Amino acid sequence: MANKQHIDDCTIIDFPKIMDPRGNLSFIEGNTHIPFSVERSYWIYDVPGGQIRGGHAYTDLQECIIALSGSFDVHIDDGNSKKIISLNRSYYGLYVPSMMWRSLENFSTNALCLILASKPYSEDLYIRNYADFLNAQTT
Ligand code: TYD
Repeated sequence: MANKQHIDDCTIIDFPKIMDPRGNLSFIEGNTHIPFSVERSYWIYDVPGGQIRGGHAYTDLQECIIALSGSFDVHIDDGNSKKIISLNRSYYGLYVPSMMWRSLENFSTNALCLILASKPYSEDLYIRNYADFLNAQTT
């Protein structure tokens, strides 16, 4: 069983921007700009038109999702409410706590999605069945 999260706990984080005529720079420090230490980074790219990534929740894993290039929509669902957040700026990150059902959809051509995660990969952290996700919520 895991604590229930509210969809409003998914927040957009505005990362620092160092504007420069030579090109702009943004950065992220774990536990400073995002509320966890980064234990893993992975990225999703070359997504064919119409394909959907995700479609699961994590029991105990926080993530920050960033559209480094292009755009896509993040569908989030806390079991009661659903929301769609479009990401299309490299200096915005979507913080997603544990126990949030999510999918990534509507990828633009050449979209590059960077995800920072609070733990190393483990299949044990996944809930891949929506009914199991609803059952896993305590309150
Ligand atoms: P998955 O998390 O299901 O992809 P998504 O949610 O983006 O659609 O992972 C797909 C496959 O990649 C799965 O077999 C596990 C593997 N994988 C890793 O080995 N390490 C990782 O850090 C991630 C995220 C996935």
